Amino acid sequence: MASIIGTWRMSYDSVLEAYNRLTAGASAMDAVEYAVAEVERNPQFVSVGYGGLPARDGEVYMDAGWMDGTTLRCGAVMSVRHVSSPVKAARMLCGREKNWLLCGTGAEAFAIRSGIPIRDMRTDRSQMKWRARIAEEAETAGAYDGHDTVCVIARDNQGHMIVGTSTSGLFMKEPGRVGDTPIVGSGYYCDGEAGAAAATGLGEDIMRGCLSYETVALMRTGMDAQTAVQSAMKAYMDRRSRLSETVDNISLIAMDNRGNIGAATSLESFPFSAGTDSGFSMYEAMYLDGSLTILPRRAEDIPLGD
Ligand code: GLY
Repeated sequence: MASIIGTWRMSYDSVLEAYNRLTAGASAMDAVEYAVAEVERNPQFVSVGYGGLPARDGEVYMDAGWMDGTTLRCGAVMSVRHVSSPVKAARMLCGREKNWLLCGTGAEAFAIRSGIPIRDMRTDRSQMKWRARIAEEAETAGAYDGHDTVCVIARDNQGHMIVGTSTSGLFMKEPGRVGDTPIVGSGYYCDGEAGAAAATGLGEDIMRGCLSYETVALMRTGMDAQTAVQSAMKAYMDRRSRLSETVDNISLIAMDNRGNIGAATSLESFPFSAGTDSGFSMYEAMYLDGSLTILPRRAEDIPLGD
């Protein structure tokens, strides 16, 4: 059974197209790369790729991750500028024994050598936004200021599972700051014998809980995707509350190795899209009477974000 799930309204169109390709026989690798790279390419989506959220110095530094559930191999890039598709670079690094997590200028040089087009990822719009924040002398903005990471998990007809992630990270971050998105176990994890998970939200909070790994570890015990992702989120929120801390805005998506999907959030509302053998839809995860509830939604009723 082919299945796919992607974060936020911003990935709806590309995840839908990737779902159609998957059901027609495309590989999970090509489906995930397509769905994430389309979001990276679109300047309308201000927290990923071209036109992404600038750091304090006005530059767009991007992170991306990739994991193959059949081989448990990963690839990731951190803090790259000018790379038109960080997720393509992450995919190309996946398979290496060593040197599969590259940062900064080394990652940029790898992308150039690999033929990934280089471009200035700043747009007039992102620079205007940055200048306005500089004028206000604003601090680093919170997660979801303009929406956050695109994460896509797919399982193809052969049962091969892949996860890919990409983000420009927090708006007005300190140059050099890296969040969860390129960090295996935190921003993403995929083991085809169990399932896959990926995270969006405040990387500093997600990394402290290794939430993607925790979710997959629960699926390894036989839990379905929804039970596992909800249990991992609840256990982490409970642990943080014992420290008298609240968890910032974080959301998780998951897929078990049978292709069932799941999502959990600390937000009032977290939109995602997914396709399974029951068809394709936009969904909203939200709390109703204190219980996490997932409801199908029409894409046109969900705001695109900034
Ligand atoms: N979740 C993206 C980041 O914190 O950078």
